[in-house]
Amino acid sequence: MTTPFGRRVSAVLSRRLVGRYVVLGIGEEAAVAEPGQFYMLAAVAGWGGGVDERPYLPRAVSVLYARDGEVGFLLEDVGPGTHRLCGLGVGEDVYLVGPLGQGFTPPPPGIEAILVGGGVGIPPLAMFQDRCGGQALLGFRTSEHAEAASLFAAPELATDDGSAGHQGHVTDLLDDLLETRQDIVVFACGPPAMLQAVQSRVARHQVPAQLALEAPMACGYGACFGCVVDTVAGYKRVCVDGPVFDAAVLV
Ligand SMILES: Cc1cc2nc3c(=O)[nH]c(=O)nc-3n(C[C@H](O)[C@H](O)[C@H](O)COP(=O)(O)OP(=O)(O)OC[C@H]3O[C@@H](n4cnc5c(N)ncnc54)[C@H](O)[C@@H]3O)c2cc1C
Ligand code: FES
Repeated sequence: MTTPFGRRVSAVLSRRLVGRYVVLGIGEEAAVAEPGQFYMLAAVAGWGGGVDERPYLPRAVSVLYARDGEVGFLLEDVGPGTHRLCGLGVGEDVYLVGPLGQGFTPPPPGIEAILVGGGVGIPPLAMFQDRCGGQALLGFRTSEHAEAASLFAAPELATDDGSAGHQGHVTDLLDDLLETRQDIVVFACGPPAMLQAVQSRVARHQVPAQLALEAPMACGYGACFGCVVDTVAGYKRVCVDGPVFDAAVLV
């Protein structure tokens, strides 16, 4: 069974705090998403009508898990849309469209997946590890944000302030690994600066990588061209051609 395309209404089934993040579970009869795919979400009540009518458009949110009639999301309150979504309680209704986009392609047998995640970019990687395994290298601002590492099995940690794990960037952990390992595929999701740092490192070491990008999205299904990214094959829409791209094709 596949999830029907089009906007649906469903209720929040669960809500919990994980450090500085909120994990929402929303009812989804056919919860069939792949790691790296996302949904467009908007609250049914209290959406629009704020300053400048924001939030007006739905927001793109990666799938954290999809099982047992529920699809899960990890959210950070960074603006009007995520603020409203983070404030939703159990039983409140949400508009959802998804799953959307192209997810990660698992590595061939015998090749280890190295999962490099930064901040609120970790959901696709947690879902990937749950299904396909792999070693997680995670970077957060503080130990409070790093509590979300509990969503992973045996992660290695870095924090900007050194309050948990290595003090520094998650790419420091990747550097150590790339010195000794080339029989790997890197899967990464996080802020643009982190993804650029990953891209340059894997290129230098000639290691394949798949990067899950974020871009401002208005529609989420290919209609507005507001999310394009430059690739060696021309401009591509992050929402339908991605969000996961081979690192080697990104300009
Ligand atoms: C494919 C995809 C998956 C995503 N997954 C998640 C997720 O799992 N959890 C989550 O909390 N957020 C996720 N996001 C990001 C989220 O959709 C945006 O941050 C959204 O704009 C927040 O809306 P807002 O109204 O709260 O804040 P806004 O006012 O829209 O933005 C707040 C701040 O974030 C910046 N910003 C907005 N959108 C982006 C973006 N796409 N990339 C980088 N910076 C941006 C703005 O410039 C501003 O500084 C994802 C985005 C994409 C495209
Ligand atoms: S968000 Fe509209 S085309 Fe990608």
